[in-house]
Amino acid sequence: MDIRTQIGNVLFDTPIMNASGPSCTSKQELFNILFSESAAIVTKSCTLESRTGNDKPRYWHNNKLSINSMGLPNNGYKYYVDVLKHMSYFSRTKPYIMSIAGMNCKDNIEIINCINSTIHLEKVHFDVGIEINLSCPNIINKGQLAYDFSAMDFYLSKLFTECLHDKIKIIGIKLPPYFELHHFKIVADIIKKYPINFVTTINSIGNGLVIDIEKEAPVIAPKEGIGGIGGSVVKQTALSNVYNFSKQFIHTDIKIIGCGGVENGSDVFEYILAGAAAVQVGTQFYREGCHCFKRIRQELINLMKKKKYNEISEFYSKLYLNDVFDE
Ligand code: DHB
Repeated sequence: MDIRTQIGNVLFDTPIMNASGPSCTSKQELFNILFSESAAIVTKSCTLESRTGNDKPRYWHNNKLSINSMGLPNNGYKYYVDVLKHMSYFSRTKPYIMSIAGMNCKDNIEIINCINSTIHLEKVHFDVGIEINLSCPNIINKGQLAYDFSAMDFYLSKLFTECLHDKIKIIGIKLPPYFELHHFKIVADIIKKYPINFVTTINSIGNGLVIDIEKEAPVIAPKEGIGGIGGSVVKQTALSNVYNFSKQFIHTDIKIIGCGGVENGSDVFEYILAGAAAVQVGTQFYREGCHCFKRIRQELINLMKKKKYNEISEFYSKLYLNDVFDE
């Protein structure tokens, strides 16, 4: 059974990796992911300087969903570049994908230039990628860039003109969910103008509200209880975003990483059918820890065996559409 997958020139042993967000902020957590069965290490989104994030409680989940308004707590990008250097001393390797969420374009250019020169100077012997986060919903008084199409286009053009990225193997962008079908073409046409290898879809559904009936209050504190929703309740929206983007990228090399409510092997199978080359696990990774990568991988293999598939390409992006009959 071969479940390897490829994005740009980077090979992944399995299509299942962690999502940026849960349990990927500290060096210890990132090393735990290195030694797990996750296909890659994706870091917490980082900024120029370290941040403590929003007030607590700022995360809550049950068995259907999660809500978070973390507010980008992270150790600052230099910390994640140091982790990358430290990983160069280990023989066990896997792709290291730094999620970056600078507060403005200039910050991201500085972060990308530093990652690029580090790979060059330190002779890093594994693949390094970046996932540019254009969709954080939780920064007070700051909207999601990816919902402002002309601003996103301007931002990407500035970024790609001014940063050096020749040593970075793959560049992706993390998008929020879209709900209007005509938006997929608008966003895809912008993405196609730049050297982008992958799109991660979806970030949490922004600005949800979860209420605790006992307390008659929101379950989290920041932003009057408003936060990004993840978990199985967002899966159908995420699958549709994967499917709609995959149609837009059909004659390109741009790959899709599906994210949203991945909990088991059949979820991964659905994402691959809809057009995802890989998936990320967020809420379920938070619940279960690193063991989820091994379990979900085995469940995917079992399902493929049952369906007599030997490799992912046999069902990748092969969703059958129903014949339409006149009533
Ligand atoms: C945070 C949440 C996000 O959905 C994201 O993409 C980046 C950061 C946060 O609140 O920390």
